[in-house]
Amino acid sequence: MAATYKPVLWNAHKRIYDTILIAGIVAYLAIFIAVGYATADSANTSLEILTISALGACAFFMLHIVLAIGPLARLSPKFLPLLYNRRHLGVALFVVAASHAIFGTIWYHGYGVINPIVSLFVSNPRYDAIGAFPFESLGVIALVILFLMAATSHDFWLNNLSPAVWKTLHMLIYPAYGSVVLHVLLGAASGHGGSPLYVWAVAAGFAIIVGLHITAGIAQSGRDAATRRNLDGDWIDAGTVADIPEKRARRITTPSGHQIAIFKYDGKVAAISNVCAHQMGPLAEGCIKDGLVTCPWHGWQYDPATGRSPAPYTEKVETFAVRVKDGRVFVAAKPNPKGAAATPAAIG
Ligand code: HEM
Ligand code: FES
Repeated sequence: MAATYKPVLWNAHKRIYDTILIAGIVAYLAIFIAVGYATADSANTSLEILTISALGACAFFMLHIVLAIGPLARLSPKFLPLLYNRRHLGVALFVVAASHAIFGTIWYHGYGVINPIVSLFVSNPRYDAIGAFPFESLGVIALVILFLMAATSHDFWLNNLSPAVWKTLHMLIYPAYGSVVLHVLLGAASGHGGSPLYVWAVAAGFAIIVGLHITAGIAQSGRDAATRRNLDGDWIDAGTVADIPEKRARRITTPSGHQIAIFKYDGKVAAISNVCAHQMGPLAEGCIKDGLVTCPWHGWQYDPATGRSPAPYTEKVETFAVRVKDGRVFVAAKPNPKGAAATPAAIG
């Protein structure tokens, strides 16, 4: 929506979200350390190691939440509010993971004659042994990716990297997750990380993340297949008006691959591209606020009748002609040019 670079805006929702986020992190660390002290063998447990473990476990848990939000929001609109602040969660995840890495490096490498960062890479060359693998190097790979994502999360970078490059960069979250899984499992295999329950927790987390992605993918492809069956000449039967919640959207994909967000609001139905001009966020997961389609990711807005951002902003997305007949919504299979007006269809 912004014609030029502008700072991130703060609002009451973001402050409440950030307060809950920070309180959650502090509570997680406190409970982890308290339970660790109460249950572990005190001869082998120090506050330093418990803190390193607590920070690593907290970062890993947050990484699961980051990965789960996308598919959850596709499965149920109840999770959509979490999408709004995913950026803050990602930056907080990096800060917690970096704290874990810094304390871990100081504790295990900071008291020798070699520089701790050099020691991290050279002290254990056993890349050929599962039970003694230098698992910290896998943590370094994940941390570098989390850093790149956190550092480029600001709009400034979007204006310097294209949305496609930015999105590709952020897909690195999956290799980062794989690296952390191996970091934890190989760490446990070489005697770090305490209880064998940890291995089961990692397996359960992996199963949940993979299961959620597969379920959301099946649900979406079911919706897309239904859309293809409903193709009627140049018009797509997009289901009943009643199926679309007020001030929300239904997403469909045309046979040629266009993703369309069909919004119902104030007795009308309008259709625009599902792909936000900012960072390709899913507009169909947003809502109508003050008469404007509002992207769930960072709040950019578009007039549903023209696909244009309100003045003074100049962003545009494609619009689609729309009709309502006998309570059913029909959308043109071909898009209008970006920013071209398409009169919303009256529901009555
Ligand atoms: C430079 C990067 C990193 C270094 C040097 C590092 C170092 C370590 C060390 C030394 C341990 C074993 C601690 C112990 O003795 O119990 C550990 C465990 C762990 N790390 Fe990392 N780590 C790094 C990055 C990460 C990242 C990015 C994450 C998650 C996002 C992570 C998550 C974990 C977890 C969950 C454990 C197991 C916790 C436990 O020990 O109970 N680490 N890491
Ligand atoms: S506002 Fe950022 S992707 Fe839409």
